[in-house]
Amino acid sequence: MRINEDTLLEGEKVVLVPYNAEHVPRYHQWMCSPDLQKLTASEPLTLEQEYDMQTSWREDDDKCTFIILDKQKWADASVPEQECMVGDVNIFLTDPSDPSLAELEIMIAVPCYRGKGIGKEVTRMMMCYGIHKLGIRKFEVKIGLDNKISIAMFKKFHFKELSISEVFQEVTLGVTVNEALHKHVFGNMDFMLQREYGKTRDSRQATFTPLSL
Ligand SMILES: CC(C)(COP(=O)(O)OP(=O)(O)OC[C@H]1O[C@@H](n2cnc3c(N)ncnc32)[C@H](O)[C@@H]1OP(=O)(O)O)[C@@H](O)C(=O)NCCC(=O)NCCS
Repeated sequence: MRINEDTLLEGEKVVLVPYNAEHVPRYHQWMCSPDLQKLTASEPLTLEQEYDMQTSWREDDDKCTFIILDKQKWADASVPEQECMVGDVNIFLTDPSDPSLAELEIMIAVPCYRGKGIGKEVTRMMMCYGIHKLGIRKFEVKIGLDNKISIAMFKKFHFKELSISEVFQEVTLGVTVNEALHKHVFGNMDFMLQREYGKTRDSRQATFTPLSL
């Protein structure tokens, strides 16, 4: 999707930025991990296929993706953006006849960043973006049956079990956007700011641009 190609979402712990070609090598390195392949039900791709995938996430109208960056690390302009990468979050419009239905995916790829509230923060931010910018009214997630952490997290966001696939060993959870969800989950989103990605990134780099004498 091109709608977020210059969008940066700033939270308390993270910054979400559009998935660009420069992120692909690190992303590819993550996805070589059999553990992450299993947790995210992904097939291994070659680096070239991963670049194609990045292009398709950018170009296709049914996919919206952000890379999750460690906000504190990213604030230091001497640290390359690739080194601030923590994971990714996606919205996928699964039903061409219903653009208000979205599948959500999240991955905190770097293990030491898990269990610190980042998954919850990013899920809230992405759902809020989906509701307000993409007009999403119903979210679904597909999670491996043994991924108890992810199931527990989405239940905190009022997701309820819709179906179980014995074949794929996964559960589908879903939530409809209603007043109760707004009140309990998105009651206070003051912590989230939206900025222009290009300008914000350039000003981060400008801090370290040597002054000409
Ligand atoms: C699932 C995942 C996104 C959760 O993100 P996270 O940053 O680790 O989770 P958070 O610290 O925000 O915690 C969110 C909730 O998850 C649950 N949780 C987190 N760590 C847990 C643990 N070690 N044991 C049990 N539950 C845990 C809790 O319900 C927690 O809410 P609480 O802190 O209010 O109790 C992350 O662990 C991940 O990306 N794992 C690998 C990929 C994956 O499984 N993706 C999901 C596929 S749909």
